[in-house]
Amino acid sequence: MAGDSAFVVVANRLPVDKVVGPDGEVSFRRSPGGLVTALEPVLQQRNGTWVGWSGGVGDSQLPEETFEAGGVKLHPVALSAGEVERYYEGFSNSSLWPLYHDAVETPIFKRRWWESYRLVNERFTKAVADDAAPGATVWIQDYQLQLVPALLRETRPDLKIGFFLHIPFPPVELFMQLPRRAELLKGLLGADLVGFQRPLGAQNFVQLSRHLLGTRVRRGVVEWEGRTVRAEAFPISIDVEEMERLAASPEVQARAKAIRTELGEPKTIILGVDRLDYTKGIERRLKAFRELLSDGRLTAPETVMVQVATPSRERVEHYQTLRVNVEREVGRINGEYGRVGQPAVHYLHQSYSRAELAALYVAADVMMVTPLRDGMNLVAKEYVGARADNGGALVLSEFAGAAAELRQAFLCNPHDLDGVKDALMRAIHVDPVEGRKRMHAMHSHLRSHDVRAWADAFLDALGAAS
Ligand code: ADP
Ligand code: G6P
Repeated sequence: MAGDSAFVVVANRLPVDKVVGPDGEVSFRRSPGGLVTALEPVLQQRNGTWVGWSGGVGDSQLPEETFEAGGVKLHPVALSAGEVERYYEGFSNSSLWPLYHDAVETPIFKRRWWESYRLVNERFTKAVADDAAPGATVWIQDYQLQLVPALLRETRPDLKIGFFLHIPFPPVELFMQLPRRAELLKGLLGADLVGFQRPLGAQNFVQLSRHLLGTRVRRGVVEWEGRTVRAEAFPISIDVEEMERLAASPEVQARAKAIRTELGEPKTIILGVDRLDYTKGIERRLKAFRELLSDGRLTAPETVMVQVATPSRERVEHYQTLRVNVEREVGRINGEYGRVGQPAVHYLHQSYSRAELAALYVAADVMMVTPLRDGMNLVAKEYVGARADNGGALVLSEFAGAAAELRQAFLCNPHDLDGVKDALMRAIHVDPVEGRKRMHAMHSHLRSHDVRAWADAFLDALGAAS
């Protein structure tokens, strides 16, 4: 049965998580991650419906009621406890997530996870089919829902179907490790347009289709089951204006000053802001800082590091191990280089408001974004977006998608610890005129490549796709 939405976005997560308090009171909290940051302003502008999971554990047999938040119509899809374990923590985040990120942690494959992944993808498909008006545009997001394009085409061939992958698409030889690899690829080939962060992702996808399914490819377009599937890069971005406005507001400016004072007016503040994820290179970043203190190239308390690490996927073993390692490293640095009331590293395992993050960006002299692999990394773009004053400096991993655009950052290879240390030292000591030039160039780039331009480019290409 068709619905009445001309534009439907479907992602594993809704932009808000439903939180039920001890007294049964329901409240909503912003969901973590870059996908939500990017899509929220797009949906607000385009008047669509967002289908997704509202966090938590529910009765997957019962339909949940559609509600509105921040001007967007939200259609929740429930997951049972078993589905959270097998579909979300299992196949999505223990098999696909590490595999697609260069296997920086060893992917785990368990056969019973697949069935749950397929069932949940079917449930999302049904929710979309119920919402979408005849001929509607449906935009499917990310690795958790790779079967939805083909499932949706089966039930609703009238729809325009786009898919965007927020994380890297791996090279053929890595993807080939995946059990059920052909089914997953066929799922994606149900779309009219498959979008990636980088041209390399699109190339990997086209090559894989040829290799695994023997598809014909003509001028970069895959021919499959009598249709054509386009694969192209659309680097995602942020709402630059919103970040500029927030950072320039008197409240955030005052808060940034207060943060410097609370940190003891250090000469240099180094900042890291990440989900607590092993792809983000947090341990190595801390190690680089410790070695610089130990070499005497930096001293505490003149230099202070602030590491914000949002809790993420806390029941998955890789994440539990990471937390232990990060906290051990923080303890070691503070044990060796801190003083009473003056830790060398301020470690905050918490979520913050957009305003507090903006204040941290404004306060920081150097932002360190050093993932081992990252589809894009919006934190890097948020930092640049917050620095319309052209102040600060960005140390950025070559393995973040953002490095293709933010060329004036202090680029480094996060696997090369000496290289990271040197990049950080160059960022700290950059000549102020050169530093401002670098930030200005990156800021100008972002202004003309914001999240609206990203969504327009994708949806125009989808509209044009046959
Ligand atoms: P990922 O999507 O892998 O988490 P990104 O860097 O692309 O990485 O996006 C992270 C998003 O989460 C950014 O918009 C960032 O502002 C937000 N974020 C990160 N840490 C926090 C935090 N501690 N509190 C609130 N938001 C956070
Ligand atoms: C990344 C992924 C998103 C995901 C987000 C937060 O940005 O690309 O799909 O939503 O991380 O992760 P979580 O598992 O908490 O949804």
